[in-house]
Amino acid sequence: MTNKSTPTHVAIVMDGNGRWASKRFLPRIAGHKQGVDALKRCARACEARGIKVLTVFAFSSENWQRPQEEVSGLMDLFALALGREVPQLNADGVQLRFIGERQGLSARVLKGIEQAEAATAANQQLVLNVCFNYGGRWDIVQAAARVAAQGLTMTEQNLGPMMALAHVPDPDLVIRTGGEQRISNFLLWQSAYSEFFFSDILWPDFDEAALDLAIQSYGQRERRFGKIPGQSAASTLPTGSD
Ligand code: FPP
Repeated sequence: MTNKSTPTHVAIVMDGNGRWASKRFLPRIAGHKQGVDALKRCARACEARGIKVLTVFAFSSENWQRPQEEVSGLMDLFALALGREVPQLNADGVQLRFIGERQGLSARVLKGIEQAEAATAANQQLVLNVCFNYGGRWDIVQAAARVAAQGLTMTEQNLGPMMALAHVPDPDLVIRTGGEQRISNFLLWQSAYSEFFFSDILWPDFDEAALDLAIQSYGQRERRFGKIPGQSAASTLPTGSD
Protein backbone atom coordinates (compact mmCIF):
# COMPACT_ATOMS: atom_id res chain seq x y z
CA MET A 1 0.00 0.00 0.00
CA THR A 2 1.31 3.46 -0.89
CA ASN A 3 0.00 6.84 0.13
CA LYS A 4 1.33 10.34 -0.34
CA SER A 5 3.28 10.21 2.91
CA THR A 6 5.11 7.02 2.02
CA PRO A 7 8.77 7.78 1.33
CA THR A 8 10.14 6.54 -1.98
CA HIS A 9 13.65 6.02 -0.64
CA VAL A 10 14.49 5.04 2.95
CA ALA A 11 18.11 4.84 4.12
CA ILE A 12 19.16 3.20 7.39
CA VAL A 13 22.21 3.23 9.66
CA MET A 14 21.74 -0.21 11.23
CA ASP A 15 23.37 0.53 14.59
CA GLY A 16 23.30 -1.47 17.80
CA ASN A 17 24.20 -5.03 16.79
CA GLY A 18 27.17 -5.18 19.17
CA ARG A 19 25.16 -3.90 22.15
CA TRP A 20 22.31 -6.30 21.36
CA ALA A 21 24.80 -9.18 21.62
CA SER A 22 26.63 -7.85 24.70
CA LYS A 23 23.35 -7.52 26.60
CA ARG A 24 22.91 -11.27 26.07
CA PHE A 25 26.54 -12.15 26.90
CA LEU A 26 27.01 -13.23 23.27
CA PRO A 27 29.92 -12.41 20.94
CA ARG A 28 29.37 -9.26 18.88
CA ILE A 29 29.13 -11.30 15.67
CA ALA A 30 25.94 -12.91 17.04
CA GLY A 31 24.41 -9.42 16.94
CA HIS A 32 25.50 -8.94 13.34
CA LYS A 33 23.90 -12.29 12.45
CA GLN A 34 20.62 -11.12 13.95
CA GLY A 35 21.20 -7.90 12.04
CA VAL A 36 21.04 -9.78 8.76
CA ASP A 37 17.65 -11.23 9.76
CA ALA A 38 16.43 -7.76 10.73
CA LEU A 39 17.53 -6.49 7.32
CA LYS A 40 15.61 -9.24 5.51
CA ARG A 41 12.48 -8.42 7.53
CA CYS A 42 12.91 -4.73 6.89
CA ALA A 43 13.36 -5.18 3.13
CA ARG A 44 10.18 -7.22 2.97
CA ALA A 45 8.29 -4.66 5.07
CA CYS A 46 9.50 -1.81 2.85
CA GLU A 47 8.34 -3.66 -0.23
CA ALA A 48 4.92 -4.27 1.33
CA ARG A 49 4.59 -0.54 2.06
CA GLY A 50 5.39 0.55 -1.49
CA ILE A 51 8.84 1.92 -0.66
CA LYS A 52 10.90 1.60 -3.85
CA VAL A 53 14.47 2.03 -2.58
CA LEU A 54 16.14 0.89 0.66
CA THR A 55 19.76 1.86 1.29
CA VAL A 56 21.61 0.39 4.28
CA PHE A 57 25.01 1.02 5.84
CA ALA A 58 26.54 -2.46 6.24
CA PHE A 59 30.27 -1.71 6.52
CA SER A 60 31.91 1.69 6.59
CA SER A 61 35.34 2.73 5.33
CA GLU A 62 36.18 3.22 9.03
CA ASN A 63 34.95 -0.23 10.19
CA TRP A 64 38.31 -1.78 9.14
CA GLN A 65 39.65 -0.28 12.38
CA ARG A 66 37.56 -2.67 14.49
CA PRO A 67 39.30 -5.70 16.06
CA GLN A 68 40.52 -8.11 13.38
CA GLU A 69 38.22 -10.84 14.69
CA GLU A 70 35.12 -8.69 14.18
CA VAL A 71 36.22 -7.51 10.71
CA SER A 72 36.85 -11.06 9.48
CA GLY A 73 33.61 -12.23 11.13
CA LEU A 74 31.69 -9.52 9.28
CA MET A 75 33.36 -10.40 5.97
CA ASP A 76 32.51 -14.11 6.46
CA LEU A 77 28.94 -13.27 7.43
CA PHE A 78 28.59 -11.02 4.40
CA ALA A 79 29.87 -13.69 1.99
CA LEU A 80 27.70 -16.37 3.60
CA ALA A 81 24.59 -14.19 3.66
CA LEU A 82 25.03 -13.31 -0.01
CA GLY A 83 25.17 -16.98 -0.98
CA ARG A 84 22.22 -17.89 1.22
CA GLU A 85 19.81 -14.99 0.80
CA VAL A 86 20.06 -14.01 -2.86
CA PRO A 87 17.60 -16.64 -4.22
CA GLN A 88 14.81 -15.46 -1.88
CA LEU A 89 15.56 -11.77 -2.47
CA ASN A 90 15.50 -12.51 -6.18
CA ALA A 91 12.13 -14.27 -5.87
CA ASP A 92 10.85 -11.20 -3.99
CA GLY A 93 11.82 -8.93 -6.89
CA VAL A 94 14.66 -7.19 -5.04
CA GLN A 95 17.44 -5.62 -7.08
CA LEU A 96 20.69 -5.73 -5.10
CA ARG A 97 23.31 -3.03 -5.59
CA PHE A 98 26.57 -2.76 -3.66
CA ILE A 99 27.87 0.73 -3.07
CA GLY A 100 31.43 1.42 -2.00
CA GLU A 101 35.12 0.91 -2.75
CA ARG A 102 35.67 -2.57 -4.16
CA GLN A 103 39.42 -2.42 -3.99
CA GLY A 104 40.58 -4.15 -0.82
CA LEU A 105 37.68 -6.63 -0.68
CA SER A 106 38.50 -10.34 -0.80
CA ALA A 107 37.98 -12.35 -4.00
CA ARG A 108 35.24 -14.31 -2.21
CA VAL A 109 33.27 -11.21 -1.23
CA LEU A 110 33.77 -9.65 -4.68
CA LYS A 111 32.49 -12.78 -6.38
CA GLY A 112 29.42 -12.83 -4.12
CA ILE A 113 28.73 -9.16 -4.89
CA GLU A 114 29.10 -9.60 -8.64
CA GLN A 115 26.91 -12.71 -8.73
CA ALA A 116 24.21 -11.10 -6.58
CA GLU A 117 24.13 -7.96 -8.75
CA ALA A 118 24.00 -9.96 -11.98
CA ALA A 119 21.27 -12.32 -10.71
CA THR A 120 18.96 -9.52 -9.53
CA ALA A 121 19.70 -6.76 -12.08
CA ALA A 122 16.30 -6.94 -13.80
CA ASN A 123 14.21 -6.83 -10.60
CA GLN A 124 11.95 -3.81 -10.09
CA GLN A 125 10.02 -4.22 -6.81
CA LEU A 126 12.66 -2.78 -4.49
CA VAL A 127 16.21 -1.55 -5.05
CA LEU A 128 18.31 -2.59 -2.05
CA ASN A 129 21.55 -0.61 -1.97
CA VAL A 130 24.02 -2.19 0.44
CA CYS A 131 26.74 0.31 1.35
CA PHE A 132 29.81 -1.81 1.96
CA ASN A 133 33.31 -0.42 2.39
CA TYR A 134 31.50 2.87 1.91
CA GLY A 135 31.98 6.39 3.21
CA GLY A 136 30.17 9.57 2.20
CA ARG A 137 33.50 11.39 1.85
CA TRP A 138 34.87 8.57 -0.33
CA ASP A 139 31.83 8.96 -2.58
CA ILE A 140 32.26 12.72 -3.01
CA VAL A 141 35.97 12.31 -3.75
CA GLN A 142 35.49 9.51 -6.29
CA ALA A 143 32.76 11.53 -8.02
CA ALA A 144 34.99 14.63 -8.11
CA ALA A 145 37.84 12.57 -9.55
CA ARG A 146 35.57 11.35 -12.35
CA VAL A 147 34.39 14.90 -13.10
CA ALA A 148 38.04 16.03 -13.27
CA ALA A 149 39.09 13.04 -15.40
CA GLN A 150 36.41 13.96 -17.97
CA GLY A 151 37.59 17.56 -18.02
CA LEU A 152 34.19 18.82 -16.83
CA THR A 153 33.54 21.91 -14.72
CA MET A 154 33.08 21.10 -11.02
CA THR A 155 29.37 21.88 -10.63
CA GLU A 156 26.57 20.19 -8.68
CA GLN A 157 24.97 19.22 -11.99
CA ASN A 158 28.14 17.48 -13.16
CA LEU A 159 28.98 15.89 -9.81
CA GLY A 160 25.50 14.42 -9.06
CA PRO A 161 25.50 11.84 -11.88
CA MET A 162 28.97 10.66 -10.81
CA MET A 163 27.88 9.83 -7.25
CA ALA A 164 27.58 6.17 -6.31
CA LEU A 165 23.80 6.40 -5.80
CA ALA A 166 23.03 8.21 -9.06
CA HIS A 167 20.73 5.34 -10.09
CA VAL A 168 18.15 6.30 -7.44
CA PRO A 169 16.57 9.54 -6.17
CA ASP A 170 17.99 11.01 -2.96
CA PRO A 171 16.71 9.46 0.30
CA ASP A 172 13.49 10.96 1.64
CA LEU A 173 13.95 9.47 5.09
CA VAL A 174 17.16 8.51 6.90
CA ILE A 175 16.72 6.31 9.96
CA ARG A 176 19.42 5.59 12.53
CA THR A 177 18.78 2.90 15.12
CA GLY A 178 20.72 2.26 18.34
CA GLY A 179 20.18 5.58 20.11
CA GLU A 180 23.04 7.63 18.62
CA GLN A 181 22.19 10.82 16.75
CA ARG A 182 24.91 11.31 14.17
CA ILE A 183 25.49 10.71 10.44
CA SER A 184 28.80 8.79 10.70
CA ASN A 185 29.92 9.51 7.13
CA PHE A 186 26.73 8.04 5.56
CA LEU A 187 25.17 9.61 2.41
CA LEU A 188 26.70 13.05 3.08
CA TRP A 189 25.81 14.38 -0.37
CA GLN A 190 22.50 12.60 -0.84
CA SER A 191 20.95 13.42 2.56
CA ALA A 192 21.12 17.20 2.04
CA TYR A 193 17.30 17.46 2.19
CA SER A 194 16.38 14.14 3.84
CA GLU A 195 14.20 13.92 6.92
CA PHE A 196 15.94 12.20 9.85
CA PHE A 197 14.47 9.75 12.35
CA PHE A 198 16.45 8.44 15.32
CA SER A 199 15.31 5.33 17.14
CA ASP A 200 16.62 3.96 20.44
CA ILE A 201 15.83 0.42 19.27
CA LEU A 202 18.91 -1.73 18.64
CA TRP A 203 19.01 -2.83 15.00
CA PRO A 204 18.33 -6.57 15.58
CA ASP A 205 15.08 -5.58 17.35
CA PHE A 206 13.95 -3.16 14.63
CA ASP A 207 10.61 -4.53 13.43
CA GLU A 208 7.64 -3.50 11.31
CA ALA A 209 6.10 -1.44 14.11
CA ALA A 210 9.36 0.50 14.47
CA LEU A 211 9.47 1.10 10.72
CA ASP A 212 5.87 2.30 10.77
CA LEU A 213 6.69 4.76 13.55
CA ALA A 214 9.47 6.25 11.43
CA ILE A 215 7.20 6.45 8.37
CA GLN A 216 4.45 8.02 10.46
CA SER A 217 6.86 10.66 11.74
CA TYR A 218 8.03 11.30 8.17
CA GLY A 219 4.41 11.77 7.07
CA GLN A 220 3.99 14.60 9.58
CA ARG A 221 6.95 16.62 8.34
CA GLU A 222 6.66 19.51 5.94
CA ARG A 223 9.49 19.25 3.46
CA ARG A 224 10.39 22.72 2.27
CA PHE A 225 13.63 22.25 0.33
CA GLY A 226 14.75 25.73 1.31
CA LYS A 227 11.40 27.37 0.50
CA ILE A 228 8.88 28.87 2.95
CA PRO A 229 5.85 27.12 4.49
CA GLY A 230 3.02 26.64 2.00
CA GLN A 231 5.16 26.83 -1.11
CA SER A 232 5.24 23.74 -3.33
CA ALA A 233 6.61 20.78 -1.38
CA ALA A 234 8.20 19.18 -4.43
CA SER A 235 11.95 19.48 -4.68
CA THR A 236 13.26 21.48 -7.58
CA LEU A 237 16.80 20.59 -6.58
CA PRO A 238 18.77 18.35 -8.89
CA THR A 239 19.24 14.87 -7.45
CA GLY A 240 21.80 12.29 -8.40
CA SER A 241 19.49 10.78 -10.96
CA ASP A 242 17.68 13.67 -12.55
C1 FPP B 1 26.62 -1.35 13.57
O1 FPP B 1 26.39 -1.91 14.83
C2 FPP B 1 26.49 -2.38 12.57
C3 FPP B 1 27.49 -2.76 11.71
C4 FPP B 1 28.82 -2.14 11.69
C5 FPP B 1 27.28 -3.84 10.75
C6 FPP B 1 25.91 -3.91 10.17
C7 FPP B 1 25.84 -5.13 9.36
C8 FPP B 1 24.78 -5.93 9.27
C9 FPP B 1 23.46 -5.67 9.89
C10 FPP B 1 24.90 -7.13 8.46
C11 FPP B 1 24.69 -6.75 7.02
C12 FPP B 1 24.88 -7.93 6.21
C13 FPP B 1 24.55 -8.00 4.91
C14 FPP B 1 24.63 -9.30 4.21
C15 FPP B 1 24.11 -6.82 4.14
P1 FPP B 1 27.56 -1.86 15.89
O2 FPP B 1 28.39 -3.09 15.74
O3 FPP B 1 28.32 -0.58 15.75
O4 FPP B 1 26.74 -1.92 17.22
P2 FPP B 1 27.14 -1.21 18.61
O5 FPP B 1 27.05 0.26 18.38
O6 FPP B 1 26.09 -1.72 19.53
O7 FPP B 1 28.51 -1.69 18.96
